[in-house]
Amino acid sequence: MDIISFFPSWILPTTLLLFFTSIFMYALRMRRSSIRLPPGPKRLPIIGNLHQVLGKEGVHQTLWNLSQTYGPAMLLHFGAQPFLVISSTEMATEVLKTHDEKLCTRPYSKATKLLSFNYMDVAFSPHSDHWRDMRKVVVSEFLGAKRIRLYKNMMEIEMEAVIRSISSHSLNTTVNLEDILLSLVYDVVGKVAFGNSYRGKTFNGRTLKDIVEEVQVMGGASFSFIFPTFGWILDELTGWNRRLQKCYTDFDGFLQMILDDHHDTKTSGHVNDFVDDCMSRLTTEEMKALMMNVLEGAVDTTTITMVWAMSELVKNPRVMEKLQNEIRRCVGRKSKVDESDITKMPYLKMVVKETLRLHPPAAFLMGRECVSQCRIGGYDVLPGMKVMVTAWGLGRDPRIWKENAEEFYPERFENIKADIGGKNFEMIPFGGGRRACPGNNMATSTVEFTISNLLYFFNWETPAGLKKEDLDMKENGFPFLRRTTPLCLVPTKHNWED
Ligand code: HEM
Ligand SMILES: *[C@@H]1O[C@H](CO)[C@@H](O)[C@H](O)[C@H]1NC(C)=O
Ligand SMILES: *[C@@H]1O[C@H](CO)[C@@H](O)[C@H](O)[C@H]1NC(C)=O
Repeated sequence: MDIISFFPSWILPTTLLLFFTSIFMYALRMRRSSIRLPPGPKRLPIIGNLHQVLGKEGVHQTLWNLSQTYGPAMLLHFGAQPFLVISSTEMATEVLKTHDEKLCTRPYSKATKLLSFNYMDVAFSPHSDHWRDMRKVVVSEFLGAKRIRLYKNMMEIEMEAVIRSISSHSLNTTVNLEDILLSLVYDVVGKVAFGNSYRGKTFNGRTLKDIVEEVQVMGGASFSFIFPTFGWILDELTGWNRRLQKCYTDFDGFLQMILDDHHDTKTSGHVNDFVDDCMSRLTTEEMKALMMNVLEGAVDTTTITMVWAMSELVKNPRVMEKLQNEIRRCVGRKSKVDESDITKMPYLKMVVKETLRLHPPAAFLMGRECVSQCRIGGYDVLPGMKVMVTAWGLGRDPRIWKENAEEFYPERFENIKADIGGKNFEMIPFGGGRRACPGNNMATSTVEFTISNLLYFFNWETPAGLKKEDLDMKENGFPFLRRTTPLCLVPTKHNWED
């Protein structure tokens, strides 16, 4: 009997298996320990770095301050989720351009999945062929030449109504510009996309505006998002799940109501809207998901930009006067501002750009997630890490905008060629790369058109007793940074002296 047959037959293969497994584990450990994660503040067990942001006034400001200590590629944990926070032009270029392909998916969350009708949309969808197809639909059908023409016509009509309504106010009355501009954008987008503004309609007692706001809130973080193992219990106990379900039911109901209206009516002379043109080739879920993207992506962002522009103009009378001179000189004495007048207003373009620099509505773009390992700023970024890029911080970085970075000074764009189309990344109010905002041009021309009208017809003052330089500019909010106080101003009709 030789020694080999003494051992049971399984011993040799098992030993070999153990041997190779341990070598493999060792190699894996070596590789892991060679991973260099981005630096970041120390984290506590379970909550990670949550205590550093929760309850603080503005997360955008807090994270920007932290990045001054830990660097422009910084790693934080919110609960169990790792977040890479990007705070410089160089790092943003690496994320949005160099490694765009590896960082261009969106994080999964229960809320975004439900509210995008199972990721049938563009904005929240993971990177996929379906996302690409849906993005093409939005670009050609909502942002294509035909719809833009309709949009501009509608904008002129609604703008005239706004001018008439403001003119009808008696002297020295304060108007809430935010309300006026939000209604304007709702009316225009609603009519172009759905054939009707739906402003007076309700579903389950809620208006479209209420529901759109609720969707924004629910799209934010929940316990299950930051604590994937046990968070669902907290979401159940806190009532968050029920609130999400209600939000979904109302939203779905409202959108179904809009679709039903399109099945019923086809009167002659009817101008085809976005829904008319897409309904036949998209599923009901795809249709609703795109309607959601238009409502959530186009309305508040555009309005917020207009409101910040007006706030900065009132606070900076020098800029206001210079811009008003340009507008009134280019338009001349007419009854309305034409599209072609606006092409002759370079200062207006700089004012809108300067507004988006200091007040990008989406302070952190939209969340991204790493799909395959890559290096950002020399650090390793691993699959599953979430990526936040601060548009707000980049717009105030003194290394780019010099010592007057905090000042509203549109003339700076005479010397710095910062484009906002996502080619270079000094300022990124619309993001960049594959996931960049497709509505960039529509948004800026809407803001330019509105501001030029408001300034052509009226002069704007702060209410009696409030000095212009004391106008409150506090900002906060999720997902969009907006004024914390309403913008109430006193318009007076401009008198041409002759
Ligand atoms: C001032 C107005 C606007 C601002 C500041 C804005 C900003 C943004 C930002 C920061 C993103 C994320 C980009 C990224 O992740 O890199 C985004 C995405 C998007 N925006 Fe806008 N946006 C505006 C207006 C519009 C308009 C008018 C539309 C009209 C359809 C629109 C549709 C979208 C869509 C569909 C996406 C998702 C793109 C994707 O994930 O592929 N936005 N926007
Ligand atoms: C951030 O830093 C600035 C300047 O150092 C300071 O004034 C501000 O209070 C800080 N904000 C937060 C939220 O930490
Ligand atoms: C409007 O307000 C100004 C300044 O507060 C005042 O001088 C003027 O008399 C007011 N006009 C009317 C019609 O109330």
